[in-house]
Amino acid sequence: MVDAERNIFVIFGGTGDLARRKLIPALYNLITFHDISSECVLLGVASRDLDDDDYRVLTRDALRDAGNSDAALEAWCEENVFYQRLGRGFGSFEELSTRIESIETDQSFPGNRIFYMALPPALFPTTVVGLGEAGLNESSGWTRLVIEKPIGNDLESAIELNALVHDYFDESQVYRIDHYLGKETVQNLLAFRFSNPMFESVWNRDRVESVEITVAEELGIGSRAGYYESAGVIRDMVQNHLTQVLALVAMEPPISFAAEQIRNEKVKVIEAIAPIRRESVVFGQYESGSIDGVDVPGYQEEDGVDEDSHTATFVGIELRIDTWRWQGVPFFLRTGKRLPKRLTEIAVTFQRPPLCIIHGRRDSCAVEPNILLITLQPNEGFALRFNVKAPGDSVELDSQALRFSHDDVYGRLADAYETLILDVMEGDQTLFVRSDEVEASWRIYDPLLDYRPEPHRYEAGTWGPGAADRDLKLGETPWTVVT
Ligand SMILES: NC(=O)c1ccc[n+]([C@@H]2O[C@H](COP(=O)([O-])OP(=O)(O)OC[C@H]3O[C@@H](n4cnc5c(N)ncnc54)[C@H](OP(=O)(O)O)[C@@H]3O)[C@@H](O)[C@H]2O)c1
Repeated sequence: MVDAERNIFVIFGGTGDLARRKLIPALYNLITFHDISSECVLLGVASRDLDDDDYRVLTRDALRDAGNSDAALEAWCEENVFYQRLGRGFGSFEELSTRIESIETDQSFPGNRIFYMALPPALFPTTVVGLGEAGLNESSGWTRLVIEKPIGNDLESAIELNALVHDYFDESQVYRIDHYLGKETVQNLLAFRFSNPMFESVWNRDRVESVEITVAEELGIGSRAGYYESAGVIRDMVQNHLTQVLALVAMEPPISFAAEQIRNEKVKVIEAIAPIRRESVVFGQYESGSIDGVDVPGYQEEDGVDEDSHTATFVGIELRIDTWRWQGVPFFLRTGKRLPKRLTEIAVTFQRPPLCIIHGRRDSCAVEPNILLITLQPNEGFALRFNVKAPGDSVELDSQALRFSHDDVYGRLADAYETLILDVMEGDQTLFVRSDEVEASWRIYDPLLDYRPEPHRYEAGTWGPGAADRDLKLGETPWTVVT
């Protein structure tokens, strides 16, 4: 049994895609793997006209679609799943309040509540105010509010949303999810950095030549044209996921592993990012091409996209961090859709020796830099590239790698949502984004939101526009991939 106190897990948007594909399966996996079955009931909230039985069918189908087929599934749905309809736009919260109290009384629950907002962002403010005005922001137990990205769509709206949330909830009750932070290897980054002094001692401007963070997606925009056309790549990926990973790579060691200490250091390093120059940004947009032998359309041919849309589906950014540790070290962020494969990777390239004494053909230096690769998905693990002498009489170098594969050593990884939901239940805010962190991150990218130059075109199934490599002097593509 884990230390998750008995609670009611309320999903606003309980009928939506996120709830069905991620949240409900994650909750159920927690039960299967962590044995919290008697600790939690699920209450779905949405606008459509369903009753408890209908929602149990939806829940069961979602679990089956996610690959669950165990005998206990039906019984779990029957006993632990409920539904409450609220009108379109979520008018009245009084009914919801009554329903929650009635479930808690029936189950003898102590009044611990999680409100998960899996809703269109336009409904966040109404929902926060509704909860607060109905007195659902406090209870006889604890009350926690989980907010999905996006937290605002620019600095101003993020500040407004944070202020509204703080009108009703204390920051200690608020869990802003960035599901990248729930990935085992992202958390492992902290363990790796702060328990291996060997690496931490070279983790600075004296030894590191550059850092590249890459989030490559094989998928295009699918059916999300409406959202993506207005959001674009900076809002979709950079302001949140890439910046979160960057913060963990570049932050100073916290004085303890306590949530607030880690979050303090993340905010500090995000605040130290120097204003990004427009010439350090390369935008791209995919054209038709082929991925894994399947022909795919270009961005402008996707359903719902304007045929002369300038929206970027790729961006490469070079930025600097103005701290003693990182002064002068370029950090490259790179993300794109319709790239050859799904890959999230951090590449820390170390400096070459100050004097090259091993030469290759035509007297060029044969020494490759040491590179530490941290792969966050799909094959979570680390690899450290180093030089060895190739067999033979002459001194020729070969590049080899020391590898650690999470899968090979530990097997199944918990889904990011499982990790994060469990943390919410346990009241651990370490992996959640604090309000000042969200605002610090928007402050960096706000000036780029209106910068929409004609993007460079790249063929779907390639590693993005050549201009990203040429103008930003990024590493070779495909980047240093762990296989
Ligand atoms: N899907 C993902 O993988 C994913 C990943 C990361 C973040 N997110 C974020 O999670 C949130 C939800 O995404 P989603 O993909 O699940 O969206 P979705 O499939 O469109 O579901 C939206 C949910 O909100 C409810 N809803 C919509 N309009 C409503 C209204 N006017 N009044 C009351 N309820 C309303 C819907 O219920 P009814 O249909 O009953 O009205 C449904 O349950 C968004 O903020 C999204 O950015 C999603």
